[in-house]
Amino acid sequence: MNKLTLVRPDDWHLHVRHGAILKTVIAHTARQFARAIIMPNLNPPILTVEQALDYRTKILKALPLESSFNPLMTLYLTDALTPEEIKKAAESEHVHAIKLYPAGATTNSESGISDLKGIYPLLEVMEQVDLPLLIHGEVTDQNCDIFDREKEFVASSLTGIIKNFPNLRVVVEHVTTKEAVDFVLSASDKVAATITPQHVLFNRNAILAGGIRPHHYCLPIIKREHHRLALVKAATSGNPKFFLGTDSAPHLTATKENSCGCAGCYSAYGALELYIEAFEQANALDKFEGFASFFGADFYQLPRNTETITLQKQTWTVPASYRVNNETITPLKANEELNWKML
Ligand code: NCD
Ligand code: ZN
Repeated sequence: MNKLTLVRPDDWHLHVRHGAILKTVIAHTARQFARAIIMPNLNPPILTVEQALDYRTKILKALPLESSFNPLMTLYLTDALTPEEIKKAAESEHVHAIKLYPAGATTNSESGISDLKGIYPLLEVMEQVDLPLLIHGEVTDQNCDIFDREKEFVASSLTGIIKNFPNLRVVVEHVTTKEAVDFVLSASDKVAATITPQHVLFNRNAILAGGIRPHHYCLPIIKREHHRLALVKAATSGNPKFFLGTDSAPHLTATKENSCGCAGCYSAYGALELYIEAFEQANALDKFEGFASFFGADFYQLPRNTETITLQKQTWTVPASYRVNNETITPLKANEELNWKML
């Protein structure tokens, strides 16, 4: 197959930041996707519907003129979130979910949750108003090995949340382990997962073997090969529980190429081309449209898009970097070849 036409996809997990970075990265996302779930982990975080709407206006202003891209907003879950704000969010046509970060798990998660049971009353309200909970699924215990943090979270926390709130819609964001995939498979149809391009393309050798590669460092960290294989199997299975969420997370090159580099891979410039490499390797191009264009919309109870886009088999080289004022963002697979190109 040399060409693939599919309904325009959506990105169900995206970081766009603000200011000059926003301006650069939103154009990349808007070229490929109709909509994206926008993560609220700014500094300071997006805590209220009003802040989410204000952020949405800034995103719309940063878009290229002709774009009809629709940012789908989220709130950041803290102990201070109120039932009233959850209800307001559920009523807003622009707020679609609430994001749970365990405190200290990842970039800008300092205001996150340290006692999960403490927010159970809030989860109960979310369950009642049917507002999805998006979870960064890693324990934050500093004694827990970084490669085991997701698996531990599934066992110690996720199972309890699902059991206590059987009607809460939950997205286990950016799953990276076979354990998380198996958990999602065994749960009800209220529980789904997003999968990133880096986690289907790479195993942990890509970070650490033959030299340390900071642009492959993200959280949850990329795991062993057998986990990658489980993720590829899930993404290409046609099971609607698994859908596209890039977790494209731009950081300036200087903050990643650093003695203490930031977590996050920048993939929005060519997200579809990155995923499709993995689908082609798995001989599953026919499963790409469901994963990229249908299952996420269905889970979020939003209409599927109707216009189409086309990808063509064509080799091109990913730029070394993208400019942001006088600085740069280094993309995932910088200077490497990709085999497909969106027309
Ligand atoms: C994200 C970021 O930079 O905001 N980083 C990452 O490695 N994925 C935060 C997150 O989604 O964990
Ligand atoms: Zn993220």
